[in-house]
Parts: sequence; structure tokens; C-alpha cells
Amino acid sequence: MSEPVSEDRSGFDWEARFQDNATPWEREAVHPALAHWRELGVLVADASVYVPGCGRGLEPSALAQQGLIVTASDRAPSAAQFQRKILAETSSATVIEGDSLAWRPDTSFDLLHEQTFLCAIHPHRRKAYEAMAYEVLKPGGRLLALFMQKDERGGPPYGCSLPAMRKLFTDDRWQWPQSDGFVPFPHPNLNGKPELAGILIRR
Ligand SMILES: C[S@@+](CC[C@H](N)C(=O)[O-])C[C@H]1O[C@@H](n2cnc3c(N)ncnc32)[C@H](O)[C@@H]1O
Repeated sequence: MSEPVSEDRSGFDWEARFQDNATPWEREAVHPALAHWRELGVLVADASVYVPGCGRGLEPSALAQQGLIVTASDRAPSAAQFQRKILAETSSATVIEGDSLAWRPDTSFDLLHEQTFLCAIHPHRRKAYEAMAYEVLKPGGRLLALFMQKDERGGPPYGCSLPAMRKLFTDDRWQWPQSDGFVPFPHPNLNGKPELAGILIRR
């Protein structure tokens, strides 16, 4: 499915990328940030976690295997089909095929795992991302962020510098970690671009 340019100015055709296996953002193993979140004690059994723009990532399945109640969404049919298949093997997780910026749950989540979705959408759509994250999380819920660091212009991926993220996730709605609360995880394929892992708490 093509991204309508009016909604996503990048005009990027994610479905075509999946069908062509032209997916350099994909990791061969589960993102190491999951071990980091676990060490911090935030991945507890029976917590509900949402993974928007999940693609064919292995993280929804890894989270389900750790006992979390997983909901994953993506508008690319191939991605939703992939997740339905692997999640059905291990859990009763829910997979939504549709616009992750527009979808809202009946019951809000404890956690949102952000991984190369925010950097995938055009910066013009970022306010919709922030509204989505705020509305899908419970008060006190945690946004497990991986902010893609990239100096060059253009995208996707579009760089998510901390100053830009500070403007997007404002202090009145989000409690930020200390500046040393971010841990860099270089991406194994995207020229080692670091993703900064940090937890923002929804007020
Ligand atoms: C760079 S990929 C990341 C996929 C996955 N999170 C990972 O780390 O492998 C971006 C994903 O966002 C999805 N996507 C882009 N815009 C979307 C939207 N508005 N709603 C739902 N999914 C979207 C694409 O289909 C694609 O799967």
C-alpha cells in the first residue's frame, strides 16, 4: 500500500519495501534496548504495551514472550500479516492493520515501545505522533523512546534530535529523564546511526 502524499509528505511506499525485502532498518536480532528496559524494571509481566509502526520487527513477539500484553499496529499489510503469524505462535497479542497515528484503544496502555516509527514519518506528522502517544498511554504510562540521531537532512529516517524531541514532547505533558538518562544504541545497518533510548513518563 502506498502512503498518500497528503498524509505523509515523504510519499514513502513501505509496503513495496517489504515486498522487495528492501528493509535496511530491520534488525537480525531483537533490539538490545529491550534488555535495557528490562534491567530498568519496566518490562513487567501483564503490563500492556503498544508497538505502533511495528513493521516486521521481532520486538512485539519478544515482549509477548516476556509475559507482556502486546498490541502492535502497522498500515503495511505485509507487516501486519507477519506480526499476526509470529504472534499467534506464542501469545494472544493483538495486531491492528491501519494508521497507527489515528488508531486509539478502548483501554489505554502502560507502555509504548517506540522503534524507528517516529523517524519514519515526515516531521510534519510528528504532532500527530505526540498526540497519539499521549492519548494511548495511561497517566503515568511510559514512552520507551528510541530517538534516531541523524545530522543529514531528509529521510526517512528523519533525525529526532533531543532539542527537537524536547519541543515535541513538552514538559507539561511529559516527564523527561535527566540528560544522562539516555543510552545510545548504534543501529547495526543504518551506518551505525545511534538511537537514544530513554523513558518519558506521560503526565
Ligand atoms: C522504518 S519501519 C520500522 C518498522 C519496525 N518498527 C522496525 O523497527 O523494524 C517504519 C514502519 O512504519 C510503518 N508506517 C509508516 N507510517 C505509518 C502509519 N501512518 N501508520 C502505521 N504504520 C506506518 C511502515 O509501514 C513501517 O513498517
